[in-house]
Amino acid sequence: MHDSTTTYDRIRPLLWTEAGLQVLDQRFLPERTEYRLCTSAQEVAEAIRTMQVRGAPAIGIAAAFGVVLAARQRFRQDPKRWKEAIEKDFAVLAEARPTAVNLAWALARMRRCLAALDGDPEPALLAEAQAIQAEDLAANRRMGRLGAELIGGAKGILTHCNTGSLATSGFGTALGVVRALWQRAAARGETLRVYATETRPWLQGARLTLWELEQDGIPATLICDSAAALLMRRRLIDWVVVGADRIAANGDVANKIGTYQLAVAARYHGIGFMVVAPTSTIDWNLPHGDRVPIEERSENELLPPYFQSQGKRVQALNPVFDVTPAALISALVTERGLACPPTAASLRTLRAP
Ligand code: MRU
Repeated sequence: MHDSTTTYDRIRPLLWTEAGLQVLDQRFLPERTEYRLCTSAQEVAEAIRTMQVRGAPAIGIAAAFGVVLAARQRFRQDPKRWKEAIEKDFAVLAEARPTAVNLAWALARMRRCLAALDGDPEPALLAEAQAIQAEDLAANRRMGRLGAELIGGAKGILTHCNTGSLATSGFGTALGVVRALWQRAAARGETLRVYATETRPWLQGARLTLWELEQDGIPATLICDSAAALLMRRRLIDWVVVGADRIAANGDVANKIGTYQLAVAARYHGIGFMVVAPTSTIDWNLPHGDRVPIEERSENELLPPYFQSQGKRVQALNPVFDVTPAALISALVTERGLACPPTAASLRTLRAP
């Protein structure tokens, strides 16, 4: 029985089975819920590259399981020299997508685990990948609570892209805050409406976020990306709540293309701008956001079919992330606490000892 104070959060983008990693193919959502089995690191890298699985934490988790599959294969092929051979698989996984640092973070953690191993590596590596997945879920639930405490009472939330269960191990980052906020509002008999941007060109908002919100019974309204400022002017938005793909040490945030212009519009209208991300998204080696590698995807993801033929005389530019300067961000929510606002100094307090 669905009561209004419960969010069900049933969706899981990645399921480990003895046969391999089952990846929920997000290209077909919301029409079709179809898992595809990956049995090698190459197949996992392909699933990441083609966005069968997407969202910064989810691609890190997928890559961790990719290492398990690679170790299984390489150890069977050569139990003595598998550690040399697996380097190729690490490289293939690392190159799958450039912007989200969670991918490199998860691979570095798997590499540390692997370095200490003797004998069959699969049980220990599997345990490490599953720990990454479980810790992400726990982090999301904690960030949900922290974020909802900070903005409790908000009636209109604008969110961009998809940062929910589909983009993580479950529950979500920015959408986790939305879920927690909804539980809080429903328990108190308060209203809440979530405005989800379409998120062109891949439509993460229209296809994925709307689907997640619908499943949890959270009041949701889809808007086209360019309607955001109008809604802010009409005072329908109290907070903008988004995720992140890479956060520089000074608090600059790389996230889905369009995030930057939402932050500019929010500042102009005096509206709070919250970023929700686990500390695995912070790139401590990056002093500021100008150095974030910004992925550019095929122009055919953007060009209408008419223009896609050979010999076309027009072009499309399709950068899929942008960088929001820290100065435009009111609050960064992580599983280790808040940085309000994010600065080099406030971020340092979130760093593990
Ligand atoms: O291209 P995508 O769909 O992988 O981009 C996803 C985003 O930009 C998300 O906002 C980000 O990864 C945070 S997901 C918790």
